[in-house]
Amino acid sequence: MENNLFDLDGGVEGRRERLDALEQQVSVCTKCDLSETRTNTVFGTGNPTSPLMLIGEGPGENEDATGLPFVGRAGKLLDDILAAVKLSRDDVYLTNLVKCRACVEEGGRWKNRPPRTAEVNACDPYLQAQLEAVKPAVILCLGGPAAKSIIDKNFRITKDRGEWHDVYGARTMATFHPAYVLRQRGDDLKETKRLVWRDIQAVRSEYDRALEKRG
Ligand code: URA
Repeated sequence: MENNLFDLDGGVEGRRERLDALEQQVSVCTKCDLSETRTNTVFGTGNPTSPLMLIGEGPGENEDATGLPFVGRAGKLLDDILAAVKLSRDDVYLTNLVKCRACVEEGGRWKNRPPRTAEVNACDPYLQAQLEAVKPAVILCLGGPAAKSIIDKNFRITKDRGEWHDVYGARTMATFHPAYVLRQRGDDLKETKRLVWRDIQAVRSEYDRALEKRG
């Protein structure tokens, strides 16, 4: 990739500079058709030295409008999930598989749609560069698409969530996407929340272990 985005290994300032340069590249990216319908690119936010990186699927309407990840109802739930283990967005680094909203026009309105494989692949070098810059010790994939892309293409979220994998030198797990949790009702909602809360506690333990290791 241009600008040596893969080989800078600085401290906090180095990482910030590297991510800023990458964000600038992403903001003018035209590698796939999503650039034609986006309002803003949504690069990522949080602490570039955090041991924990969260990876969602891609921006929706609210994120496209603001340029920030997870700002809608799913974002509020994500904040609650993090708060349940005494973490905030400032403690983690938060990004998505794709940096532009995937949408389709239906009945005169633009509706969110899942990003296509070609779009995820086109955006992947940016995610790889973010992983290289942040070097997380722990990765939490939010939902099946992130897990399929990061952990295993055959990943099944209902069966495989909550299990640890070693990917990119990081302890890596997937849990249900907050938007999926919001779609559940009754007993399904209770059970889904219980599992997500269990997963986030396991993630918090790995986060603490990573901090201890750093000393
Ligand atoms: N869903 C995602 O996966 N990412 C966002 O940023 C918002 C909603």
